[in-house]
Amino acid sequence: MTKNISWTDDYAIGIDEIDQQHKFLFKLINDTLRSDLKEQLQISLLQLYKYTREHFTAEESLMKEICYPQYKQHRELHNQLITELNKKSKEALNDPTKRDKLDNFLVSWLIVHIIGEDIHIGEFFKR
Ligand SMILES: [Fe+2]
Ligand SMILES: [Fe+2]
Repeated sequence: MTKNISWTDDYAIGIDEIDQQHKFLFKLINDTLRSDLKEQLQISLLQLYKYTREHFTAEESLMKEICYPQYKQHRELHNQLITELNKKSKEALNDPTKRDKLDNFLVSWLIVHIIGEDIHIGEFFKR
């Protein structure tokens, strides 16, 4: 089964810099979903991890800059996502039967976090 997530403008939070980064995250996640060989998966996950860190840092700076009221809680969610990403990555690399769990996490994380949480930064920014 080929898993794939595609960007639509419904996912845009209305801050161009962040939307571009989210688009790139979609790409990196799709690369990861398509990585079948262990070595390939390892490389994709490393790229995803690095870019996610960069993206979270950028998002956190922006939240600080605009005095976003839920900054602390949002930063905490980012930390949890990084921890979860590391955990699920390790598990899937060590045990291929855990691969589905990783893939499901990657897909739901993006949708749930961007749509559920990042969208509020956009709403606050527009006010
Ligand atoms: Fe976020
Ligand atoms: Fe984000």
